This record gives sequence, C-alpha cells and structure tokens, in this order.
Amino acid sequence: MKRVLVTGGAGFISSAFIRHLLRATPYEVVSLDALTYAGNLENLSDVQAHERLSIVHGDIRDEALVKSVVAAVDVIVNAAAESHVEKSIAEGAAEFVATNVEGTRVLLDAIREEPVERFILISSSEVYGTAEAAPMDEEHPLNPRSPYAATKAGADRLAFSYRATYDLPVVIVRPFNNYGARQHPEKVIPRFILQAFADEPLTVHGDGTASRDWLYVEDDAEAIEAVIEADLDLVSGEVINVATGMDVSVSRIADVVLELLGKPASLKEHVEERPGQVHRHIGSTEKAERLLGWSAKTPIEDGLARTVAWYRDNEDWWRGIQARARTEISVS
Ligand SMILES: NC(=O)c1ccc[n+]([C@@H]2O[C@H](COP(=O)([O-])OP(=O)(O)OC[C@H]3O[C@@H](n4cnc5c(N)ncnc54)[C@H](O)[C@@H]3O)[C@@H](O)[C@H]2O)c1
Repeated sequence: MKRVLVTGGAGFISSAFIRHLLRATPYEVVSLDALTYAGNLENLSDVQAHERLSIVHGDIRDEALVKSVVAAVDVIVNAAAESHVEKSIAEGAAEFVATNVEGTRVLLDAIREEPVERFILISSSEVYGTAEAAPMDEEHPLNPRSPYAATKAGADRLAFSYRATYDLPVVIVRPFNNYGARQHPEKVIPRFILQAFADEPLTVHGDGTASRDWLYVEDDAEAIEAVIEADLDLVSGEVINVATGMDVSVSRIADVVLELLGKPASLKEHVEERPGQVHRHIGSTEKAERLLGWSAKTPIEDGLARTVAWYRDNEDWWRGIQARARTEISVS
C-alpha cells in the first residue's frame, strides 16, 4: 500500500488534496504541518479520524523529524509554504526563504538518504511573472516579480537540480491561481466574498485588468493525484503546469461575486496598484493533457458559485480566522 506524505496538510490546497486522496484512492496519507497562522486543523476536521490518515505537527525545516517521517513513506507532495504574495512584500521575505527554499532543501536531502518512489514539488505559476506570450508553457522564462514568487522559483530550481545532480525522482508541478473552499481570507477571492457579505467595498488593485488563470482547487487535487499515478519514466524531471488555459480579470471576478450574492456592482472599488503585480497570467494545458491525461473540469462560474456557497455555509470557519487575526494584532 502506498504511503503519501503531504506537507502543509492543514492548508488550503493540501487539505483538499488529502480529502481527495482518502476519497479516491486506497493510499495511506501522512500530513506534516507546522500550523502557522495559515494552517488550520479545522480544514481536516471531517477526515481527522480517518483510519488511513496520520497527522504530524511539525516543521519541514526540522531535519530529524523530516528524516523519520520520510523513511516511512513512498511518495512526497511538498506543498508546505509561506503562500501569501502581499505578506512577502509587506513583512519581508525571511520566512518565505526559510520555509519555501530551506524547507524544500531539507526534504530533498532527506530523500537522498531515505529514497522514495517520487517527490512532487508544488511550485507555482507565479515563478513565470507576467506572461510574455499567452498561454505560458513550461518553457516560459522565469521572471518572479514578488519575494514570494522568487522563493518558489528557488525551490523549483533546487528540486530540478537534485534531479539533475543526484538522479532523484522529482516532478515539479506549477499550479495556477487556486480558489475554492477553505482558502484563507487573506487571498483575493475569499476576501471579495467576505467583503460582499459585509456590504463593504470589494477593493481591486489598479484598474482591475490584471488577469489570472483561475483553477478550482478540486481540479488541482485531481491533477496532483494524476502525477502520482503517471508512469514515472514519463514525468520524472518534468515541469508540469496545472491550468485551465483561460484567464479572467480580477475586476470580472469581483463582478461575478457581487452578482452571485445579489449585491450592487457599485461595491467594487479601485485602489492603488500593488507593487510587484503580475499583469497577465494564463497557462498552457497541453503538457498536463499529454503526460497526465488531465484537464480542468470546473467552469469558473460553477467554481465561484460553489465557493460562495461554502463561505455562506461555513461562517464559523472564517469568523474564527478573523478573530484569531485580531488577537494576534492586539498582542503584537
Ligand atoms: N493558492 C494558490 O493559488 C497556489 C497556486 C500555486 C501554487 N501554490 C502553492 O501550493 C502550496 C499550498 O498553497 P496554499 O494556498 O494551500 O497555502 P496555505 O497558506 O493555505 O497553506 C500552507 C500550509 O503550509 C503550512 N506551513 C507553512 N510553513 C510550514 C513549515 N515550515 N513546515 C510545515 N508546514 C508549514 C501552513 O501551516 C499551512 O497549513 C504552496 O506551496 C503554494 O506556494 C498555491
């Protein structure tokens, strides 16, 4: 029986991925998460008692712990990260370098000593920066435009170098902008939803024409599973985008959220442009289709409707996060 280690398991994407693995595969799953401000065990509450899930509270930079966990698994999906672009700009890059680059280094060195069947690094489409050509395929230059994106590029190329240097079975996955249930309210789509609930302005940076390739998180989970199932010879050493091939502007997302909630379009408000902004982001889907037989299933309107419904039905979840954030501000 395969044992899959998922790092960052209490986060947004990893918790959806763990739920997917438990539902769709017979695999045993180990979650390793440091429970930073972004990690929330409530994200796993419905599967916490599952007989095939083990939950380890710990840091991917803890070499001894990582080595012992890695020794007991066959596949690693490294998704633990400091993940918020704006935090990397406002608060500095130190934590981002430490977790995203050094943490990935610790995991890669662990598999040199405790070999695994495959190591999947969850990189990010942010490593590309603004699209020079659309759609961006995996050969697009890496021009990360924020400290967050630069640390993801560092981890991405470090993983690649371990494949080239030590012949380790590394696969690099570059998901585009995920959205869906359980995404931290610091990210743009949940922020818009909660602003709309409260009849507050939905603040859009710049003129709102910045566009993204929005990927429903459950589609992303299926893509990552497809990387586990793929013939290793086909995917080892490869970089694979996980995208829809379509881009939608941030401004349009705000409009759809307001429409779904029956709120006036006048709630949308433009504020100053964000430094390090990526202007256009659209991913090529060709390689994922060819190597994994995977393509995204969920149209943006359906995914947004499901996401809005989830936030409407799970007020305790997001109110808890808001209350914890207020406590942190008042004690710091
Ligand atoms: N959200 C997106 O749109 C998106 C797109 C592309 C790639 N990614 C990547 O996918 C991964 C998951 O993103 P997310 O949005 O779910 O992030 P998230 O912030 O919701 O979750 C990150 C998780 O990692 C944990 N973590 C942080 N530092 C850790 C450490 N040192 N050791 C162990 N655990 C630690 C946190 O506690 C949290 O549970 C990240 O690698 C991110 O860069 C995200």
